[in-house]
Amino acid sequence: MTAERVRVGLGDRAYDIVVGRDVLASAGREISALTKSRRAFVVTDENVARRHLDALRHALRESGIECAVAILPPGEATKSFAMLEHVTGLMLDANIERGDMVVAIGGGVIGDLSGFAAGVLRRGVDYVQIPTTLLAQVDSSVGGKTAIDTPQGKNLIGLFHQPRLVLSDTGVLDSLPSREIRAGFAEVLKYGLIEDAAFAEWVAMHTQAILTKPGAERRDAIVNACKMKARVVEADEREAGRRTLLNLGHTFAHGIEAAAGYSGRVLHGEAVAVGCGLAFELSERLGLCESGTAAQVRDWYAAAGLPARISDLPDLGATADEFMTMMAQDKKTRGGRIVFVLARGIGKAFVATDVEPQIVERMLGEALAEEQSTQTKA
Ligand code: GLY
Repeated sequence: MTAERVRVGLGDRAYDIVVGRDVLASAGREISALTKSRRAFVVTDENVARRHLDALRHALRESGIECAVAILPPGEATKSFAMLEHVTGLMLDANIERGDMVVAIGGGVIGDLSGFAAGVLRRGVDYVQIPTTLLAQVDSSVGGKTAIDTPQGKNLIGLFHQPRLVLSDTGVLDSLPSREIRAGFAEVLKYGLIEDAAFAEWVAMHTQAILTKPGAERRDAIVNACKMKARVVEADEREAGRRTLLNLGHTFAHGIEAAAGYSGRVLHGEAVAVGCGLAFELSERLGLCESGTAAQVRDWYAAAGLPARISDLPDLGATADEFMTMMAQDKKTRGGRIVFVLARGIGKAFVATDVEPQIVERMLGEALAEEQSTQTKA
């Protein structure tokens, strides 16, 4: 299968997303086409380094590119001020200059931290994303959002800094645990739920192939998700409007992840699956979409082995009121009002700024009571 290129058309900051098997081997050639510099700074984590660092080094060396490498601990805790200081310090020690290339190879944590570090180093150095999880390939590596976490919440400190290239090697997904693939699937289906019912149905129909087979369906799912994200980012790079739709399910997901302490207990994609179910449930309660739509969304996620209800998650020990407080830290909050992405049906999402918080709190209270009764029965 040949690699596919999706262009993100952002004028003089336009770039390609290259999707295909073994595209990692072309990293040196692709980067050489972007800069005359023969120096790169690679950022990765311990797990990804074990599997893919030699192949990346080899690919860079073939094109005469020498690299310094930072290998960071895996996990969300790496997206911290301390790690930002550490990694930018290493970049300065390695004399990385404007014109050199930062290369982020890893999942969303490495991509977000490295993009931020590249964005502030010497007021901006170029970087390339080589996402190694399905979730990063279909979402976080595209669109230039970079960030770290703080005690107040996730991704609250960061900047928009577009990569020069995204290299999505579908082969690296072969070694990914199936839970991580499922988490990425949550974001793939999300694109259909937002604005393309036919894509949602196609994804639902090919769920098992996307999850279990490294074939055409998985590649097509990635390419189509990237195409949709590229169109949204081109229209609204800095999230003044349409890009907000990509946060379907994310207001709830951020509350869930905060309640879980950003630990591996609940993966981001798992929180998004539950969050999308809740967003459609809320839409139904507000009379915006037909009864049964939320059940359809939950069934699609459940068929992928994802949690679809709060009661499918481990007990997070938070009350509805505490969830509301955590959700209010969301970046979308305006004038103290939590902004929700709601839907008038599958593929018909829109941004709502006027949702009564009491309705949301009541719905969460009921969902949490369901959780307690499930656990009592178990
Ligand atoms: N992950 C949502 C966005 O990039 O806008």
